[in-house]
Amino acid sequence: MTKVVLIYGTGSGNTERVANGIIEGIEAAGADAVLKKYDGEFVDLSDADAVLVGSPTYNTKPMPFINSIFDGEQGDQFDGKIGAAFGSFGRDGKAVQIITEKMKGRSMNVIDPGMAVFTRPDEENLEKCRKFGESLVDKIKGL
Ligand SMILES: Cc1cc2nc3c(=O)[nH]c(=O)nc-3n(C[C@H](O)[C@H](O)[C@H](O)COP(=O)(O)O)c2cc1C
Repeated sequence: MTKVVLIYGTGSGNTERVANGIIEGIEAAGADAVLKKYDGEFVDLSDADAVLVGSPTYNTKPMPFINSIFDGEQGDQFDGKIGAAFGSFGRDGKAVQIITEKMKGRSMNVIDPGMAVFTRPDEENLEKCRKFGESLVDKIKGL
């Protein structure tokens, strides 16, 4: 079965809500989703068909773990995989763009733009997250 791994960080839970909305769409489209809040441990991506990485924007940047996962010992696991960025923001929302560029730097097949949501996702934005998850699975299956 198609498997999507979502790695994320959050300060106050909004990015986690975005992740859960995307997961609802992934599962509705018939794929498996594994949600992993990054805790510094190695995340095995070997059987993932796609990897989504999420972070809020703090002080115009994603959380520092983004550099750890893309540039550290597990960075080469991303190479060549399908990817997309997601996250919540309050002002400029640069994190999703920066993660997207990190993914391109790892020669991932990136869905651009990713899923950026203003503050705490309301029902309308959660529906957009679900649609994003569904279309991701359609893309994976279409390849
Ligand atoms: C100290 C601080 C700095 C922030 N800096 C930014 C920023 O530079 N750009 C932005 O778009 N939002 C910024 N925000 C807003 C957060 O991105 C927003 O509250 C987001 O929903 C937090 O997501 P989370 O609940 O997943 O942590 C900032 C919030 C705080 C508390």
